[in-house]
Amino acid sequence: MYSLALQALAAAVLPSALAAPQGLPSSYGASNGRSSYEDNTSSTLQSPSVHDWAEGAVSQYEIHKSCNATETAMLHQAITETEMMAAHARDHILRFGNSSAYYTKYFGKAPTAEPAGWYDRLVRGDKSGVIFRCDDPDQNCATQDEWAGHWRGSNASDETVICELSYTSRWYLPSMCGHGYTVAGGELASFFASDLIHRLFHTDKIGEATVFHYADTYDECLALAQETPAQAVRNAHTLQYFALDVWAFDIAVPGQGCTGVYVPEEEDAEAAPASTASSAAAATSTAAETTSAAETAEAATTQAPTSTMDDAESTTESATESAESHCHTHAGGELHCI
Ligand SMILES: *[C@@H]1O[C@H](CO)[C@@H](O)[C@H](O)[C@H]1NC(C)=O
Ligand SMILES: *[C@@H]1O[C@H](CO)[C@@H](O)[C@H](O)[C@H]1NC(C)=O
Ligand SMILES: *[C@@H]1O[C@H](CO)[C@@H](O)[C@H](O)[C@H]1NC(C)=O
Ligand SMILES: *[C@@H]1O[C@H](CO)[C@@H](O)[C@H](O)[C@H]1NC(C)=O
Ligand SMILES: [Zn+2]
Repeated sequence: MYSLALQALAAAVLPSALAAPQGLPSSYGASNGRSSYEDNTSSTLQSPSVHDWAEGAVSQYEIHKSCNATETAMLHQAITETEMMAAHARDHILRFGNSSAYYTKYFGKAPTAEPAGWYDRLVRGDKSGVIFRCDDPDQNCATQDEWAGHWRGSNASDETVICELSYTSRWYLPSMCGHGYTVAGGELASFFASDLIHRLFHTDKIGEATVFHYADTYDECLALAQETPAQAVRNAHTLQYFALDVWAFDIAVPGQGCTGVYVPEEEDAEAAPASTASSAAAATSTAAETTSAAETAEAATTQAPTSTMDDAESTTESATESAESHCHTHAGGELHCI
């Protein structure tokens, strides 16, 4: 009865609001479901101080003006694919939940809300201040051999620099399952999209200083899912592997995918490259990350930057470091300060 009464009241008052000559578009009140039943509804709707909750929202990642036309076009495509890949990972989770074998493979028994939420933040979260730039402000592209890009860490925690190497080495999504690539045997950074998923989760704006490195190699990520699912759902590499695997299976090569087989690479088990204490934040504690097999294919040829500290430590140890004090270098020249 109460709602019927409200409807009657709204019906009685609404016409005057719609008739207001200076009011907002007539569809505004109606389509928003804002039944207007106050005495002076029309003046309220006309008020310039009407709350627009979405005002100032930033829905697109910024490509800095330092990027030339080619870089801008390639980054635009890469960002589009990054959002497509993350959106599909989210949608796969929303569709199947933990009845998906892919879900339990990577996230174990963890509730589905957190990983779905991380992907959604990347796709639909507010993006103000999240910038990709090409001008090498920290001079890492210029001075660090073979770096493909880096997070600016304490210098600008929502900014990512993409070095020239990225434009010549990353693949676009249509080549998924081509080039002999498999999810288990390939590199997480082979695809521009999965590389940028990782880089975006490093920004405070998207990753909330919470998506982190708990496990790196494919087999370590699978073990983490079974042993510590609460960490798997916020592990950067797990979020990349899952997104790649379900994109391959659902979209690229439907019903088949290209999961492949993990092949451990013994050679770099003990040869963790040390990173450079190159940022102010890193100065207090610089650590090399034990690199994953997936990432270290490049490591043989890509020597890590000259180390100023030889403090190598494992990923699990590094996970306990404070957010301000830890930088690591991935093989392939990605500096991540976490
Ligand atoms: C009419 O609207 C004004 C502001 O738009 C508000 O301050 C006032 O309280 C409203 N009056 C009633 C009776 O709702
Ligand atoms: C899947 O989720 C349901 C409901 O939350 C839960 O009862 C069940 O144990 C979960 N299964 C697995 C394999 O995690
Ligand atoms: C634009 O950037 C790309 C990739 O870094 C580079 O190869 C190209 O030479 C640049 N173009 C110009 C006109 O400088
Ligand atoms: C931050 O800026 C300093 C000074 O320019 C630079 O030495 C350092 O490498 C930068 N940090 C990163 C993570 O690039
Ligand atoms: Zn990282």
